[in-house]
Amino acid sequence: MTELQHPKDVFNDESRQFALLVNSVTDYAIYMLDTDGVIRTWNPGGQRIKGYTAEDVIGTNFSRFYLPDDAAAGVPERNLRTAATEGRCIEDGWRVRQDGSRFLASVVIDPIWVDGVLVGYAKVTRDITERHDAQERLQQVQHSLLQAQKMEAIGKLTLGLAHDFNNLLTIIVNCLDLISVRVKDGPAAKLIETALRAAERGALLSRQLLTFGRGQKLSPERLDLTASLRQSQEILERSVGEAVKLVFDLHEDLPCVFVDKAQLEAAVLNLVCNSRDAMPNGGTITISTGAREARDPASANGALEQHVCLTVEDDGEGIPIAHQARVFEPFFTTKPVGRGSGLGLSQVFGFTTQSGGFPQLSSAPGEGTRIVLCFPIHEP
Ligand SMILES: Nc1ncnc2c1ncn2[C@@H]1O[C@H](COP(=O)(O)OP(=O)(O)OP(=O)(O)O)[C@@H](O)[C@H]1O
Ligand SMILES: [Mg+2]
Repeated sequence: MTELQHPKDVFNDESRQFALLVNSVTDYAIYMLDTDGVIRTWNPGGQRIKGYTAEDVIGTNFSRFYLPDDAAAGVPERNLRTAATEGRCIEDGWRVRQDGSRFLASVVIDPIWVDGVLVGYAKVTRDITERHDAQERLQQVQHSLLQAQKMEAIGKLTLGLAHDFNNLLTIIVNCLDLISVRVKDGPAAKLIETALRAAERGALLSRQLLTFGRGQKLSPERLDLTASLRQSQEILERSVGEAVKLVFDLHEDLPCVFVDKAQLEAAVLNLVCNSRDAMPNGGTITISTGAREARDPASANGALEQHVCLTVEDDGEGIPIAHQARVFEPFFTTKPVGRGSGLGLSQVFGFTTQSGGFPQLSSAPGEGTRIVLCFPIHEP
């Protein structure tokens, strides 16, 4: 190579131009391999993407960038063969950086022929992990949005039914009350009492449905979650029984929320009873409160916002993945007839969303269940 008189003279020297080009690229790893896959050149893009310097890699085989399983399965050699026989090998696949972390690489391998003889390969690699992660995040958001829309639709349907059902029950209860005034004793009185009890049970069901459909009129008040839970502590302890340990991990000085106290108590009781039912041989339920950032899944581009959270966690049987999208739906139950009506979590869902919040579920079969109710902070 001749000495340059002026930096711009580089444009008269083809090999310098090429070296300058390759060494200026930092978004792509551009390097050459010999016919055995041994690395012969390296560029700053390779160092940026994979973490290795030229000294680290030149003279070593490029199979070091593949996942150990892929390397053992002969993927690197196969890719070189494909490039040589088909004229090019294009692949998106996972690779390993120098620090052991993985990245998704978009790889192109071209064979280099000189006078009809294969002398090596040109390899261009791009890190597309970010694009892949962004797509996954987008899919997750779309999935939660779809789930939220489905719940909204079921809610509307339920609301209509529950209203009609409630009106009919009101008439039935009033009529039964009037009849019972006239029929004081005898077998008829017993029948009327049974009918009244059934109608009251029906009214309770329709109230739960109304809550799910967000048609229940709430009486929200400014509340400290920790203080409210302390007040329900005794009743919750009584409802779990002997075999289950109930642990409270309550944080003081949390910001207040604006929720209906009776509905909050019912929701916690529903969650605790579910956890108890999931641990027939005993276990631990932890109820905790805290503040943290969370994103509302019902908003398409919702930002992370500070919420006050109530968590009920158990180490019970967990919820199968296939059921997880359905547990908040009304009447979804896996319990035998008479043991569960499938309305507990729909009350939890309806109450939480009507209060401006949302529930989060995480569970794995055999590893327990955690349900977090996130409520917006109520500024005084
Ligand atoms: N903590 C939990 N562990 C395992 N499964 C759970 C848990 N919580 C809920 N589930 C599953 O979700 C289903 C629905 O729960 P939900 O509380 O809505 O109804 P239910 O408990 O079956 O009946 P109900 O609460 O009306 O008496 C349950 O039947 C159960 O399969
Ligand atoms: Mg339940």
